[in-house]
Amino acid sequence: MAHKVFVTRKIPEAGLKMLADHGYEVTVSEKDGVMTKEELVAELKKGSYNAVLSLLTDHIDVEVFDAAGKDCKIFANYAVGYDNIDLTSARARNIMITNTPDVLTETVAEHTFALMLAIAHRVAEADRFARADKYVGWAPMLLLGNDVSHKTVGIVGLGRIGARVAHHAVRGFDARILYYDVKRNEAFEKEYGAVFAEKVEDLLARADFVSIHVPLLPTTKHLMNDARFRLMKKTAYLVNTSRGPIIEEEALVRALKGGAIRGAALDVFENEPNINDGLKTLENVIITPHIASATEETRTKMAEVAATNIVELLSGRIPPNIVALP
Ligand code: DGY
Repeated sequence: MAHKVFVTRKIPEAGLKMLADHGYEVTVSEKDGVMTKEELVAELKKGSYNAVLSLLTDHIDVEVFDAAGKDCKIFANYAVGYDNIDLTSARARNIMITNTPDVLTETVAEHTFALMLAIAHRVAEADRFARADKYVGWAPMLLLGNDVSHKTVGIVGLGRIGARVAHHAVRGFDARILYYDVKRNEAFEKEYGAVFAEKVEDLLARADFVSIHVPLLPTTKHLMNDARFRLMKKTAYLVNTSRGPIIEEEALVRALKGGAIRGAALDVFENEPNINDGLKTLENVIITPHIASATEETRTKMAEVAATNIVELLSGRIPPNIVALP
């Protein structure tokens, strides 16, 4: 009998085709939006699926695993992050969890840099200004921003994406790198002349740009709070393309309004898809709606990687991107 795979929302065709080409019976949610937990549970209960391709917007917990039942062997998350999934329950129910690392590193690093340059050069604010017909001629003091070149870029979390952002900062903009991570990377320090900050506080006090690249964990939630914003330079900018709850948004609004920092560029938010009204009203904030990995090339590769993880497991081999083993 053909294996059955459920995909919680339409993804690029390449991944769906890969699953179909293996002879699987593939069902894609027909809803043009995020399935509610009730909808997902109901679908999984009736479908007796062997694999689920889930998205970061699906909250996968014990109730969902129980609905999937004992024939379901894998939830392949279409994201590098997997904070939407309860790994402890997955292990307890003998379900493997996989993610889609590597293929999105360059794209997310590019988007991070796009945000960094855009906030420093006031690109979105200038665009709004020009569209509002406020431009009456070149002026020496019009919309002055800041350079990224030769500045100190603080990387919080030196994983693949953080390291790639550092690469662009050093090779493209002659920036100095300060980094904070739970572990030191001496090879990286040597290659980029980077300096390790023993404490995140040390980095915050010295960086002109702070870019967040840590996963969302109980220990990283609200890593950026009132006390930490007070440590930052008043001229500094904050960029976040990791996960929203790492920043306490109300504290960020206070920091931006009170002048504790100069600006912020955000791709992720504390309560997605809601975006804090305080942030939306500020000129010194750039907002993109969780699109850091959203290029045609990368989203296609993510679909292929998620599908490969399923194919490998259902073919009796070891998937390449396991984050939780049964
Ligand atoms: C991920 O893959 O975790 C990203 O947030 C998707 O853009």
